[in-house]
Amino acid sequence: MSIAVSTKGDIFLLNTQSTSYAFGIDHLGLVRHLYWGRKIEAVDDFELPELTEVSTNDPVFEITPEEFPVHGGLRYKEHCLKATFPDGTRELVYRYCGYDVEKGEDREELVIHLMDDHYAFFMDLRYKLYPQYDLMERSVVVRNQTEAPIQIEKLHSAQFHIPYENLNFSNVHGHWGAEQQRFVQKVSYGKIVIENRRGISTHNHNPYFVLDQDATETDGQVYFGALRLSGNFSGVVEQTQYGETLVQMGLNSHDFLLELQPGESLEAPAILCGYSDHGFETMSQNLHRFARDHILREGLRPVLYNSWEATEFHVTSREQIKLAQKAKEMGAELFVLDDGWFGERHSTQNGLGDWYVNEGKFPNGLEELVDAVKALDMKFGIWVEPEMVNPKAQLYQDHPDWIYHYETRVTDTSRVQYVLNITKPEVQEFIYNMLDNLLTRYDIDYIKWDANRPISQTGPQRDVWYQHIQIIYDIVKRLKEAHPHVLFEACASGGGRIDYGILGIFDDFWTSDNTDAYDRLYIQDAYSRIYPIKAMRAWVTDCPNFLSGRVIPLTFRYHSAMMGTLGVGCNILKFSPEEMELSQKMIALYKDIRPIIQEGDFYRLDNPSADQYFLYEYLKENQGVIFAFLPQSKVGHRGTTIRLRGLDEQAQYTLHTSKGDMIKSGSYLMYHGLELKLCGDYASAVIQFEKNP
Ligand code: GLA
Repeated sequence: MSIAVSTKGDIFLLNTQSTSYAFGIDHLGLVRHLYWGRKIEAVDDFELPELTEVSTNDPVFEITPEEFPVHGGLRYKEHCLKATFPDGTRELVYRYCGYDVEKGEDREELVIHLMDDHYAFFMDLRYKLYPQYDLMERSVVVRNQTEAPIQIEKLHSAQFHIPYENLNFSNVHGHWGAEQQRFVQKVSYGKIVIENRRGISTHNHNPYFVLDQDATETDGQVYFGALRLSGNFSGVVEQTQYGETLVQMGLNSHDFLLELQPGESLEAPAILCGYSDHGFETMSQNLHRFARDHILREGLRPVLYNSWEATEFHVTSREQIKLAQKAKEMGAELFVLDDGWFGERHSTQNGLGDWYVNEGKFPNGLEELVDAVKALDMKFGIWVEPEMVNPKAQLYQDHPDWIYHYETRVTDTSRVQYVLNITKPEVQEFIYNMLDNLLTRYDIDYIKWDANRPISQTGPQRDVWYQHIQIIYDIVKRLKEAHPHVLFEACASGGGRIDYGILGIFDDFWTSDNTDAYDRLYIQDAYSRIYPIKAMRAWVTDCPNFLSGRVIPLTFRYHSAMMGTLGVGCNILKFSPEEMELSQKMIALYKDIRPIIQEGDFYRLDNPSADQYFLYEYLKENQGVIFAFLPQSKVGHRGTTIRLRGLDEQAQYTLHTSKGDMIKSGSYLMYHGLELKLCGDYASAVIQFEKNP
C-alpha cells in the first residue's frame, strides 16, 4: 500500500519505493506538511503537535508549513491561491472535508477535499504516486459551485517544504541560441523567482526546481519538481525565518485573471516531483524512466535529415529531392522539409498563415517531393508555424481581427509576425483544419511545429496566458487522434518549448538552434538533468558553425549529436566522398547503439583529469556506450580515467576500444576505471561495451 492513513485518521503517509511524504490535518484544520525524505513505513509514528505563535508578529498561519497556503488571514508568506468572490471578499478560509483514494494499474492517488468556510468553492489537493519511479505528481483542482463567477487571481499547483536552510538552487538560464545554461545559486533569506511571462517561450528559465544540500551526481539529498506547463509559469523559492525553505510553482499571476463560472472547475498543471538521497543521477534517471514509460510514445526515434540550414527559405522541389536522395544514401530515415515551402514565404517577411504549397517552388505540387521521399523508403516531415501570421499574408488581409491586439494600440511585430488569437473558435478551427488537410492530403509522418515570437497585446482577456497553450495542447491531441502515426516536434525558436507540459503531447524537442557541437555538450548536459534523452533532437551541421563560427571535425560533431536523437542538417550536396563515407559509418553506428541511447539509463560521469574531458555513459540491460570528448587539450596533455557506473561488480565486460577489445570486471571498471587519453583539439571517442554471458 502506497497510501497509509493514521489510526486517528488525521495523518497521511505517501510511500514510493524508497521515499516518503507525509502531512496531516491539524487542530486548526490546516493541511500541515510533516515530512519528505527517505522511506518511513510507520504512519502512526508521525505526530501533529499543536503549533502556537512565536510572537504576535509570527502568527500560527505564518509558521505552519501548509501544503496549500491560500491568501487570507494572518498569512504573509507566498500563497498558492488567491480568489475574489462576487461580493468583493478577497480572502479564502478552507476547511478539510474528507479524502478519497483512487487506484490505477501502477499508481495510487490521494485526493484531499477542502472547501471554503462560507462559499461553495472547493479545492481538491491531488497526490498521484508512481512508486517504482519514486515520483509523485501534485496538483490542485478548484471548483466553483456557487451561483456567480469567482475570479482566480493566482493559482500555484502545490507548496513544498524542505526542512533545511542554505540549500543550492539550480535551474537554467538562457536565450535564443543559448538555451539550457545551467546555474546553481545559494538560497538565503529572501526569495528566488523564476518565471516566463512571454506566453510562448521558455528559453530564459525552465519550469522546474532542484534544491540540494551540496549533492554530487551520486551522493547527497536532492528535492526536485518539474511543472507540466509550457506557458507562463512562475516558481518561488523562499528561505523563511523559521528554519526551512519553501518552494512552489504554478501559473504565473503576472497579468493573469481567470473567471471561473458557476459549475466550472480549473485544474492547475501538475508538478512531477521527487526526492533522492543519492544525488542528481537518481533524480535524472527516475524522471527519464518515467518519461519513457509513461509520457513518451513507444518506439525508437528515426534518424532525420532537415534541410533548413542547407537551403533556408530557398527551397525547390528539385533540390529537396536531391537532398533526400543523398540523405537516404547516408542512412537517414526521415526527411524534413523546413520553412519556406508555402505561400509567398521567401524570407521572414511573408507567407505565415498562407498554408498552400508555393507553385513556383513546387511546380508539380508537394506530391512530387513526398512521392520521391517515399520511393526512397523514407518518412516525410514538414515544418509549420500555425500560431502566427505575417502582416503581408493573405490570411491577415482577410482576417485582421484574428490576431491578439488592442484596437487603440499598434500591435508589435516580432520576426515580422503577429500571434493569432487562438482563443477565438474560428481561429482554432482554421489551424486544426489546415493541419488536418495537410496530413490527410499528403503522406506526412512528422510535423515540426514552430513558434518564433512571444505573445503581446493579448486583448482584454487576462486568462489568455493560460488558455493559449491549453488550446495548442488540445489541437495537437485532436490531430493525433485523427493521424495517430504522426510524430510532433516541439520547436519555439529552437529550445523554447522544452517542458513536461508539452512532452507526451509532442514527441520530440528541438533542443536549440545552436548546433555548435561544443556548445551542445553544455546544453545537452543541462537538458539531461530533467528531460529524457529520447526527446532530445541533436543535429550535425556545417562548419564554420553559423552561430559560433567554430570549425569542429565531423567526427566530434557526430559524436556530440549521437548523444540524443540524431539528425543531420548539413548541406550534404556539398559533401566530399570522405564526408559522405564518414557520415554513413556514423549513422550506421548510431543505429546500432540507438536503443541504448534512447531507452537506456544515462550517467554523467566524473572527470578526474585537469584537462576538460566530458564523459558520459548509457546503459541498457547488458549493453553500454561511453562517450568521451576533449574539446581542447592543455599543456601536459593529460589523460583521464573513466569510472563507469551501474555495472554488475561480479560480471565481466568486453569493451571495444580503438586499441582492440578488452575484458574487465564490473568492479574494476567502476572503481579503478578505464584509462583514456585523447589527443589534439576536438578529440572524441565512442566506446561500446557489453556484459559477457
Ligand atoms: C526557427 C527554428 C529553426 C527553423 C526556423 C525556420 O528558428 O528554430 O530550426 O525551423 O525557425 O524559420
